[in-house]
Amino acid sequence: LLTRRGEPRLAGRRVVVTSGPTHEPIDPVRYIANRSSGKQGHAIARALAALGAEVTLVSGPVALPDPAGVRTVHVETAREMLAAVEAAMPSDAAVFCAAVADWRTDGAGAEKMKKEAGGGPPALRLVENPDILATVARRAEGRPALVVGFAAETTKVLEHARAKLARKGCDWIVANDVSAATGVMGGDRNTVHLVTGEGVESWPTMDKDAVARALAERIADALKDRQW
Ligand code: CTP
Ligand code: CA
Repeated sequence: LLTRRGEPRLAGRRVVVTSGPTHEPIDPVRYIANRSSGKQGHAIARALAALGAEVTLVSGPVALPDPAGVRTVHVETAREMLAAVEAAMPSDAAVFCAAVADWRTDGAGAEKMKKEAGGGPPALRLVENPDILATVARRAEGRPALVVGFAAETTKVLEHARAKLARKGCDWIVANDVSAATGVMGGDRNTVHLVTGEGVESWPTMDKDAVARALAERIADALKDRQW
């Protein structure tokens, strides 16, 4: 875990990690959300901190404690998550593990919607949320040296992951198969493929903590030879 000079491998490196879902309000009591426990993202934040990195974890609503040794910023919506990520820049690396809601309602109501109001179920008008990963990966100035995205897919996992790598302009995509049979969603284990410009590495099924430690080591490898 230590460099030849006896320092932790990521000492002096700043890393931003997103984790958990985002909640997009419909009204003060209802929201749209993605499914995400935050387990993998929080584990990555912990693993990076264990290697000595200065970690900012930007987390949507999760039922997990704030990891020790990590600066945790709590947000609800995608737009708040983007603002918190931007505020944590500059960073050497950024890891986007959050399950960001792709859409938000166009103007959430300030008052609770009532069923009795009549007219049947409301028609929600949705607008697209900012893509936090793509926004950071395509920064003209101050882009982190290493930008890592995740892709949770239920079909054609590698095909979608390769397409996302190109579309979002990030350096790596960690692709995982979240089809119901895998039990990844909410579970403690994960099967991932690391998709880079060089190719695909398929990792064995591991605990989310072990995936996090392996990824943190790979991030340390990638940042090792860079001069700042
Ligand atoms: N992501 C993000 N901001 C968004 C949507 C996604 O930062 N508004 C990030 C996620 O954190 C993840 C990566 O982009 O690292 C891929 O997310 P995913 O939902 O798989 O990709 P999308 O581009 O939203 O495509 P789709 O949901 O249609 O598969
Ligand atoms: Ca999405």
